[in-house]
Amino acid sequence: MTLQTVHVPLGDRAYDVRIGTDLICRAGAEIAPLLRRKHVAVITEDRVAGLHLGALEAGLAASGITSSTLSLPPGETTKNWEGLSRAVEWLLTERFERSDVVIALGGGVIGDLVGFASAVTRRGLRFVQIPTSLLAQVDSSVGGKTGINTSHGKNLVGAFHQPSLVLADVDLLDTLTKRDFLAGYGEVVKYGLLGSLGFFEWLEKNAVAMAMGDAGLRAEAVRSSVQMKADIVVRDETEQGDRALLNLGHTFCHALEAATGYSDRLLHGEGVAIGCALAFEVSARAGLCSQEDPSRVRAHLSKMGMKTDLADIRGDLPDADGLLDLMGQDKKVIDGAIRYIMVRGIGQAFVTSDVPSALVREVLGDALKAR
Ligand code: GLY
Repeated sequence: MTLQTVHVPLGDRAYDVRIGTDLICRAGAEIAPLLRRKHVAVITEDRVAGLHLGALEAGLAASGITSSTLSLPPGETTKNWEGLSRAVEWLLTERFERSDVVIALGGGVIGDLVGFASAVTRRGLRFVQIPTSLLAQVDSSVGGKTGINTSHGKNLVGAFHQPSLVLADVDLLDTLTKRDFLAGYGEVVKYGLLGSLGFFEWLEKNAVAMAMGDAGLRAEAVRSSVQMKADIVVRDETEQGDRALLNLGHTFCHALEAATGYSDRLLHGEGVAIGCALAFEVSARAGLCSQEDPSRVRAHLSKMGMKTDLADIRGDLPDADGLLDLMGQDKKVIDGAIRYIMVRGIGQAFVTSDVPSALVREVLGDALKAR
């Protein structure tokens, strides 16, 4: 398969996202032009290391590049002050310098943590993202948001620090569980819903075969998603405006993740899918989009075998007021008003604070009653 490239034109921080198969095997050739000395830092986590570290080391060695590796425990809890401190102290102990490159090999947790460690170590090392989950390939590895969680919430400490290169090898997706793949698909479908009816229609036609493992379709879905993200990030790198569109479904999602204790009752991408369906429902009831749109969105998510409604989340949930309260903790809140991403139709999202709480409460209440 030919490699595809999405260029992210951010001036002196511009970089390429390379998408295709067998990329990890040619990581050395891809990364070599960035290096001053042929030695790199690799930071990963134990599960991913067991699956992909050998292939990466061989791919680097093929271009004469050696590496030192730090492997951290898997899971969201690594993305905290302790994980950051371990990564930074290790980079300093290993004497990585400003001219060196750090490789983040893993999903969103590793990408965010290593990106932040790279941003603050010696006031900034360059880093390369090799995302191993679908969610990381289409969203978190691109755009430069890095950070960690604190006891106050997720991603509250961090920095914008763009990678120097992203290698999205779709072969790596073969090792994901079906549930993790579909959770990542929540972020893929989000791009169609927020910005491109054409892409959503393409997904309606091709996403089942893509989920079954078709590498060409996977590469095309990743390329389209990354291109849409790059276009938005270039317009608004630090989220002063349009970048918030990438958070379609996320205000509902963050409340649901908090309500389920950030546990495996609800994965982030599953919450995004349910959140998108809720955003369409609120938009339809507000008269912003047609009544058919929410049903079409739900029909596609259900056909993919995804969680679509609050009824698909097992265990207790707070009532509608409790969920609204959790939504009020969102980072997008300004002067106490929740900023919603609403839609005028599939592919036509916009940001507004002008959504009556009573309407959101009604939609949540109805969704809870259907459980
Ligand atoms: N994941 C949303 C963003 O990068 O802005």
